[in-house]
Amino acid sequence: MKGIKRILVTLAAIAIVIIILSRCMNAADALPKDIRGEAYAGAATCVKCHQEIKQSFAHNAHGLTSKPVYDQELLKIFAPDSNVFNFDAHQKVVIEKRAGGIFQVAYVDGKEVRAEKFDMVFGSGEKAYTYAYWKGKKLYELPLSYFSAIRNWAISPGFTNQTFYYDRPIGSRCLECHASYVDKKVTQTSGITTDEEMERGALLYGIDCERCHGPGRQHAVFHLENPKEKTAKFITIYKTLSRKQKMDACGVCHSGNTLVAQKSVFGFTPGDNLDDYYAQDFVGFGGGNPDVHGNQTNMLMGSNCYRKSENMTCQSCHNTHENIKGNLKIYSERCISCHQSIKHSEVTLAKGSLSTNCIDCHMPKEPSKLITFQQAGKDHSSPYLLRSHHIAIYPDIKK
Ligand code: HEC
Ligand code: HEC
Ligand code: HEC
Ligand code: HEC
Ligand code: HEC
Ligand code: HEC
Ligand code: HEC
Repeated sequence: MKGIKRILVTLAAIAIVIIILSRCMNAADALPKDIRGEAYAGAATCVKCHQEIKQSFAHNAHGLTSKPVYDQELLKIFAPDSNVFNFDAHQKVVIEKRAGGIFQVAYVDGKEVRAEKFDMVFGSGEKAYTYAYWKGKKLYELPLSYFSAIRNWAISPGFTNQTFYYDRPIGSRCLECHASYVDKKVTQTSGITTDEEMERGALLYGIDCERCHGPGRQHAVFHLENPKEKTAKFITIYKTLSRKQKMDACGVCHSGNTLVAQKSVFGFTPGDNLDDYYAQDFVGFGGGNPDVHGNQTNMLMGSNCYRKSENMTCQSCHNTHENIKGNLKIYSERCISCHQSIKHSEVTLAKGSLSTNCIDCHMPKEPSKLITFQQAGKDHSSPYLLRSHHIAIYPDIKK
């Protein structure tokens, strides 16, 4: 009897183990694969449980910052009367819808000399859209970009206004800040020159959940199996990070383009030390003279709000999941949370409604030194304006 009982108990134990194991396998197996590897789950899995974030994130600039070009969307922004860019009396680029898609077509004296298709778009359109086309495993920038401020086409930033240019390669560096992943192969051609090839089919567009939260497959599997567990497991908790770690998590893409990447930042996860990825340029550090473009980190770190407070981070004003673009009143409330009593002079106070817009005076829009854009028929280039994150008392607003 005893023997049979023991066998039964053993069998039951084995059965339980098998059931548990198979449940694990099922939960893990049921998840779709992610091109970044075993540790990742993909945004579609994350939003199954995080529905509220799915809603807000659908309209967030991060998620929308790169994608393939969908003709219907592109057609919305180019009107038939604003689809020509004249470089001079002889040369022009025309946006044309043809059978195979939409193209930027270059003409010299009325004769077509080059046509490349809109394949991919950079930018959520807040300020601009820049477009690219694929040639084999390489990506190139199209000559015209769309600028929201003028609601029209202009020459892509940094391009000459003398003639159209189709051969500026877009490397994986752009994608490191504007996408979630791309599979690439770097080969050494001669000496120190290298050649980079990117896999169009292995590109994750937009900045997704795991780009900011780190790989989350283990987290997803754990919570699928333990639906009653309300405490997050196997995912970095932002609140527990140090100030530097929090700044680095945003700084990975918001510290400017002048930093030299030592290794791909696709692998950066919150909690990592950014110095391990970039060789810092100390010239621009701490407010030396950083450009407003894409360099909010160093601009902010140079201002007294940051230096004299102990806990200011990007999150003091930004919750990356919400979309409050343009709502300067809400932003101002975040200033007031630290500045309950302010000593403004009579002159300043006389300007009225101070409390609802601290931003325009203390974080004025400034032109980027690196980016300007050239409109058709204009001999000067137009500035590309960004909020200065160097919060300060600006002399010209004192008057
Ligand atoms: C099976 C459900 C489930 C899936 C799938 C899931 N999560 Fe979660 N997640 C939870 C639960 C439960 C919590 C804890 C309660 C809460 O904070 O909402 C949590 C919490 C979190 C937190 C908060 C941590 C903190 O600061 O407290 C983050 C960040 C997070 N998840 C990210 C992700 C990401 C990224 C993915 C996709 C890779 C993902 N989750 C997939 C269930 C899930
Ligand atoms: C993987 C790169 C990357 C990371 C990491 C990142 N950002 Fe961004 N962020 C971008 C890019 C690119 C844009 C421009 C998006 C566009 O409009 O196309 C952007 C835009 C923004 C904007 C302006 C759009 C808006 O929603 O108002 C804010 C604010 C912002 N980021 C804050 C943050 C903060 C705070 C963090 C850290 C928690 C962060 N970002 C992390 C790349 C990144
Ligand atoms: C641009 C970076 C960024 C992206 C992209 C991003 N998050 Fe977050 N997320 C954050 C930061 C930063 C926090 C911490 C906010 C805080 O503590 O103030 C956070 C907090 C959270 C939390 C904790 C609860 C909350 O709302 O504060 C959850 C859950 C979460 N994220 C899930 C997701 C999911 C799911 C996605 C994809 C749909 C996603 N995140 C995309 C930066 C990001
Ligand atoms: C170091 C990170 C980084 C790199 C590299 C980078 N960008 Fe950006 N980019 C940003 C950030 C951050 C913004 C948000 C606005 C700002 O701060 O200028 C932005 C803004 C933009 C915008 C305007 C988006 C909008 O919705 O208004 C476009 C278009 C753009 N970048 C294209 C590119 C292209 C093309 C490349 C490569 C040639 C590139 N970027 C390289 C970080 C980067
Ligand atoms: C996390 C808290 C915090 C937040 C949020 C904050 N500040 Fe400050 N700010 C400070 C501290 C601390 C100082 C330094 C005060 C001192 O020198 O006594 C400061 C200084 C200033 C100064 C004086 C600058 C100078 O160079 O002398 C101005 C102006 C200012 N803040 C405006 C703002 C505005 C506008 C906002 C919102 C966009 C804001 N602050 C958000 C903490 C904060
Ligand atoms: C003291 C408040 C405050 C802090 C801290 C702060 N920002 Fe901002 N940020 C703003 C305001 C205000 C705007 C303008 C919003 C608008 O016009 O809708 C802005 C705009 C932006 C934009 C859009 C670019 C533009 O010029 O319109 C980006 C990108 C951004 N912030 C990133 C960051 C990052 C990254 C950090 C941390 C290094 C950070 N911010 C810290 C207040 C802040
Ligand atoms: C019309 C432009 C303007 C607006 C709007 C404005 N400020 Fe100021 N602020 C100034 C000027 C100019 C000074 C220098 C002192 C003076 O001349 O009033 C100053 C000084 C300050 C100082 C440093 C003086 C002190 O108290 O330590 C802080 C902090 C500050 N402002 C915060 C804010 C905040 C927060 C808001 C929004 C609630 C705001 N300001 C709105 C123009 C402005």
